[in-house]
Amino acid sequence: MNAKILLLPGDGIGPEVTAQAEKLIRAVGDIYGLSLTIEEALIGGAALDATGEPLPADTLAKCAEADAVVLGAVGGPKWDNPDASKRPEQGLLDLRKALKLFANLRPVRLHPALASISPLKAEHIENVDMMVVRELTGGSYFGDKLEGDDEASDAYSYTRREIERVVKIAADMARSRYGRVTMIDKANVLATSRLWRKVSGEIMAASYPDVAYETMLVDAAAMHIVANPSRFNVIVTENMFGDILTDEASVLVGSMGMLPSASLGEGKAGLYEPIHGSAPDIAGRGLANPFGMLASVGMMFDYSLGMREVARQIELAIWNAVSTQQCTLDIGGNLRTDEAADAVINQLSDIHTKKVAFI
Ligand code: NAD
Ligand code: IPM
Ligand code: MN
Repeated sequence: MNAKILLLPGDGIGPEVTAQAEKLIRAVGDIYGLSLTIEEALIGGAALDATGEPLPADTLAKCAEADAVVLGAVGGPKWDNPDASKRPEQGLLDLRKALKLFANLRPVRLHPALASISPLKAEHIENVDMMVVRELTGGSYFGDKLEGDDEASDAYSYTRREIERVVKIAADMARSRYGRVTMIDKANVLATSRLWRKVSGEIMAASYPDVAYETMLVDAAAMHIVANPSRFNVIVTENMFGDILTDEASVLVGSMGMLPSASLGEGKAGLYEPIHGSAPDIAGRGLANPFGMLASVGMMFDYSLGMREVARQIELAIWNAVSTQQCTLDIGGNLRTDEAADAVINQLSDIHTKKVAFI
């Protein structure tokens, strides 16, 4: 196989964790004998500074040609002026929209060694293993905006088709996990949520009678995610709710730095990024946890490159690094970003040569 991978490091800790992704991808290429082409392009604040655009045309063209795109993070205080006409984050939103990546998969699984890192009681979080499917190209993020000095508005809409396609992805996922779908909305207030409830109920009844299905209001869901997280299996929800609930869910597994994501559309091409941001408070100090990024690379091998076994071994390598406390400060280790990534690469090579299995 010859796959083309594009790296978009972005801002803050983005380049720090993307450098680890590149190392892992090259190591996978060597270990498994794959021919992988890696390129890099600008996005976010780095692109704004260099070209005046957060998503330069050249970057978008390279993304469209790639089999998979790996993104660090965008944004930071330097570009946070509320009066600025262009923001780094817009580059990421435009990219998701242009590549039609409507489904954002965010797995949340607790490594037992990290139960004590979470501020929640260990007995409340054991067995946490959920998949949040976040709609990514609709809702309040993409409606018309009015931005005045005395009034502002964000229009907010969803179509049946936008809801159907993402609910189907969640339901398929639940079926393969022998799980249940929880659709989270605010149907007691929002018209868009009432459409979500109607359309998802119809699809589940018509095409997935074998998959358990429930609905939940988002305010109650925010409570249940911390009070009783292991009750969730697959969550499907609109763009903004999915954004917020997954930052909340990261607390269950120890750190924002642990959670990966895959953004997918109709085809195989995808965008892979950790769920965290550019973390300006720790940028440039070697403190960033690279595991969410490395796990995103794992998802890339599965979903875009069709190599599930490689993905599984990357997951196992991260798991083993955590088991042996070879990790960054945020999850109780004392390694720097690059050392933690090296530990994963060493574990991967041991797994490949069958020296080590599951620790
Ligand atoms: P953030 O996710 O950057 O950071 C939140 C907290 O989590 C911080 O205390 C940070 O130190 C910690 N954290 C995040 N990633 C970590 C890691 N890998 N290892 C250890 N700790 C980590 O959120 P924020 O501070 O609200 O946002 C900062 C900037 O990032 C903003 O400009 C925001 O728009 C942007 N952002 C970008 C993305 C993205 O590019 N996908 C996602 C979220 C936020
Ligand atoms: C994320 C981020 C983005 C989002 C921002 C930076 C646009 O928070 O990927 O979770 O809200 O989708
Ligand atoms: Mn977010």
